[in-house]
Amino acid sequence: MHNEFKPLTPKFPKFVHGGDYNPDQWLDHPEILEEDIKLMKEAHCNCMSIGIFAWATLEPEEGVYRFEWLDSVIDNLYNNGIYTVLATPSGARPHWMAKKYPEVLRVGPNRVRNLFGKRHNHCYTSPIYREKVWQINTKLAQRYSNHPGVILWHLSNEYSGDCHCELCQKAFREYLKDKYKTLDNLNKAWWTSFWSHTYTDWSQIESPAPHGEDIVHGMNLDWNRFVTHQTSDFIKWEAKAVKSVNPDIPTTINMMMYFDGLNYQVIKDDIDVISWDAYPKWHHVGDETQVASEFAMYHDLMRSLKDRPFMLMESTPSMTNWQEVSKLKRPGMHLLSSLQAVAHGSNSVQYFQWRKSRGSSEKLHGAVVDHYGKSDTRVFRDVRDVGIALEKLQCLYDSNVKAKVALIFDVENAWGVNDSQGPRNCGVKYKETVLAHYRALWELGVSVDIIDMTCDLSKYSVVIAPMVYMLRDGFSDRVKKFVSDGGSFVMTYWSGIVNETDLCFLGGMPGEMMDVMGIRSEEIDSLYDGETNCIVKCGEAPDTMKEKYTASELCDLIHCITAKPLYTYGEDFYAGMAALTENDFGKGKSYYIASRNEPAFQKDFYRELLKRTDVEPNFKGELPYGVTVGKRVGDKDYLFVQNYTKNEQTLTLDREYTDILSGEKYAGTLSLKPYDVKVII
Ligand code: GLA
Ligand code: ZN
Repeated sequence: MHNEFKPLTPKFPKFVHGGDYNPDQWLDHPEILEEDIKLMKEAHCNCMSIGIFAWATLEPEEGVYRFEWLDSVIDNLYNNGIYTVLATPSGARPHWMAKKYPEVLRVGPNRVRNLFGKRHNHCYTSPIYREKVWQINTKLAQRYSNHPGVILWHLSNEYSGDCHCELCQKAFREYLKDKYKTLDNLNKAWWTSFWSHTYTDWSQIESPAPHGEDIVHGMNLDWNRFVTHQTSDFIKWEAKAVKSVNPDIPTTINMMMYFDGLNYQVIKDDIDVISWDAYPKWHHVGDETQVASEFAMYHDLMRSLKDRPFMLMESTPSMTNWQEVSKLKRPGMHLLSSLQAVAHGSNSVQYFQWRKSRGSSEKLHGAVVDHYGKSDTRVFRDVRDVGIALEKLQCLYDSNVKAKVALIFDVENAWGVNDSQGPRNCGVKYKETVLAHYRALWELGVSVDIIDMTCDLSKYSVVIAPMVYMLRDGFSDRVKKFVSDGGSFVMTYWSGIVNETDLCFLGGMPGEMMDVMGIRSEEIDSLYDGETNCIVKCGEAPDTMKEKYTASELCDLIHCITAKPLYTYGEDFYAGMAALTENDFGKGKSYYIASRNEPAFQKDFYRELLKRTDVEPNFKGELPYGVTVGKRVGDKDYLFVQNYTKNEQTLTLDREYTDILSGEKYAGTLSLKPYDVKVII
């Protein structure tokens, strides 16, 4: 057996199938708790996440603990072959705590302290909150971390948000003192002489506020960095509490999709296992390809954080209750979307939630068990089928995705580029741009790592950097080394504008990247929605690419220094200026895409570029629109063939394949039903 990775959960080295379970809501319904066990077995669930919001049940009064109910739940599950992911309860706290210690509650950017309510409503700096969390975490660890059924710590829930209380202001100033040492350094880094905002005393520094300072971009960036720093410190504190009792149980936090409130690249080292919560909006108007490629990218991001399998901690078995329209998953979609996560490196499929709560805000959120309470439902059958599929896929538990292509999606860059005023305040579209490049590779069936500018580039053949507006320290040196050594590097318009404190480069754009790209950007033109230009083939552009592609929104006006143009603009006063360039640098090549182009450009360009490298698509043959193939590599290559269309699709095969789920053999062609997924070797 190929054994590259330590299992995510060594006590239970198997694909995890289960979900958030809230027995604390049903303690006066013992018959339901009994029924749950029966239903879990029937659904082929092998694990439950418990205690996420159970603090008030665990500690109903300060220092008074009630663990008997949890003892019996964990024992009962274990005796029935079901393991426990145990949560620390810090995501929400009991009323008594907020009443007695108001400092645990969060203060908003408007400097008003919240009342008790909702969740995630706490200050990460408060020493009292930290002490209370330490106490409950160590109690839980003392009681359960040696239980044979407890396999993983789920620290808190979806860490997010910031607090602007006095304790946090003080911590922010300390963070800045540590970073800049002198006020003079800070003033220079933030360019505070602009509008006379120079600081003359550390005490003048306040966090960004809508009724105060919020236009100093360098400060906004540092506030975001501080929030990550403080959250990371809090996570370390939580982890230390449980690990001080038994260091052997791994920890995770459930990360979020599209979340740029925290820099997960910093936080990844605070935990042992990456996990995240995915809630795609399937069956939106139009086709599924946009949502499918977006979620593929987010799965890839989570895997790439530690370059090892991750866990899908939450997904809905049916629908959410918070999307604008809560649409049901069409037949096939539950297995398809669950195995999409596995295809990209997940070693689990877990749900929010096992059983629907009876009241309050999530009573209508999808669950494995509905208020109906029985197993003869479509959703339950879909869940059971995923459980059965995961059991059959255990052979690939030790495999991972191996990508030779890296796409850069950098959260600090997102903070900077989105905060900056100009060049297109109606939508600079950083995330969408990264997705547009990802989507082309997804359509081509190529495995991709999603990394940021601080990551190592040396293991890749191709690195793609869309809109790297802010060059992180050391990035340009790593790129130069990568290209000199033979790599292919792609960068787009609106790159190399500022440094890490949001100060513009002097001497021309793209700053430190000018030599490796062999171009200089002089100006950038912004187009209104609906306005277009075009780029036209010239010189040595590959034959398979079209003569012309539409350009829109952002057109960078560049001069070639050492690069040669492959396309030039077709219209307007800059017609004839380079729009796509290629530059030889050492043993490698760099490409500059000067304009935002129609999707076909990305697909044609990357198809051609990959042919010149050692990167192979996961499937040998053409993929119909809406069909993609992911690959996990272990003792064998496991191909996940996914059909995101509502039509039957046929693929031509290069050899005979065996279907792991059905045992069937395919030769010649492979037919996929609507929303079908097959795992073949
Ligand atoms: C998040 C939370 C869960 C639940 C789900 C609902 O992911 O972590 O507690 O609220 O959303 O979709
Ligand atoms: Zn605070």
